[in-house]
Amino acid sequence: MSAEAYSGVSDGTHPGVSEGVQPGVSEGAQPGVRAGTPPRPYPRPVTHTCTPTGAARLARLVTLPGVYAPQHDTRLLTRCLRREAIDEDTAVVDLGTGSGALAVAAASLGARVTAVDISRRAVLTARFNALRNGLTVTVRRGDLTDTLPDDCCDLVVSNPPYVPGPSARLPRHGAARAWDAGTEGRAVVNRVCDAVPRVLRPGGALLLVHSGLSGVAATLDRLAGNGMEAGVVDRAYVPFGPVLRSRRAWLRDMGLIDDTENREELVVIRAELR
Ligand SMILES: C[S@@+](CC[C@H](N)C(=O)[O-])C[C@H]1O[C@@H](n2cnc3c(N)ncnc32)[C@H](O)[C@@H]1O
Repeated sequence: MSAEAYSGVSDGTHPGVSEGVQPGVSEGAQPGVRAGTPPRPYPRPVTHTCTPTGAARLARLVTLPGVYAPQHDTRLLTRCLRREAIDEDTAVVDLGTGSGALAVAAASLGARVTAVDISRRAVLTARFNALRNGLTVTVRRGDLTDTLPDDCCDLVVSNPPYVPGPSARLPRHGAARAWDAGTEGRAVVNRVCDAVPRVLRPGGALLLVHSGLSGVAATLDRLAGNGMEAGVVDRAYVPFGPVLRSRRAWLRDMGLIDDTENREELVVIRAELR
């Protein structure tokens, strides 16, 4: 992964899908916890230093326990965000903001930014990170676009939960809400594809990142069916993180990976409202 878009991330121990270890996935330490010692009930927040815009500004992000720390997918999407023509007239919505990394990146490019997350901790974290970086971001707690009016933005960025897993039911609480996405990995991706056209102004665009395991063609078809012209604009291959490693046997049984596979394809899809 290029360090161009986003560099110097974390202390390397933060829970993560592609990097670090998630609570409950069992292979390793929570932040600040040595292997073999019992985890603290409330691990300390982890500090990340990132340059999401490539500009002089250095975004400093803190991630509360249970909130998704910036990872490969965040960086890939940030790289695509930087290619967009953004100025102070551009209204950007970040759906599933987590730490607020993408919202902060968009605000530092000059955009007017609204960030949404269903998790209270994520909302607090994103508000704090915007303040910490001296940027204005409106952060709302809500289910995807439910709190947003029609035709309110020019660009939606989203890094939704997309990891396929054995349970069709989505978690209602906890860190897994950031990645668990049903047996096809599409439970939230499909909803994003269906919800975004309503909030975009004519000519507006969506930048959406997800795994190749979640079905790229299905996303392109769904967006086309919703009146959007869509294509893949970036991709990266990243090592399996702890969540995918823990699901290796299930993924193989489902025919999603073969025995030797240990890297995941991430894609960014850009879709424009016709
Ligand atoms: C993979 S994380 C991405 C976080 C951040 N945008 C990034 O790129 O690092 C997905 C985020 O979506 C949030 N989320 C999951 N379901 C949601 C929903 N229905 N509505 C809003 N946010 C949701 C999770 O709480 C989590 O913060």
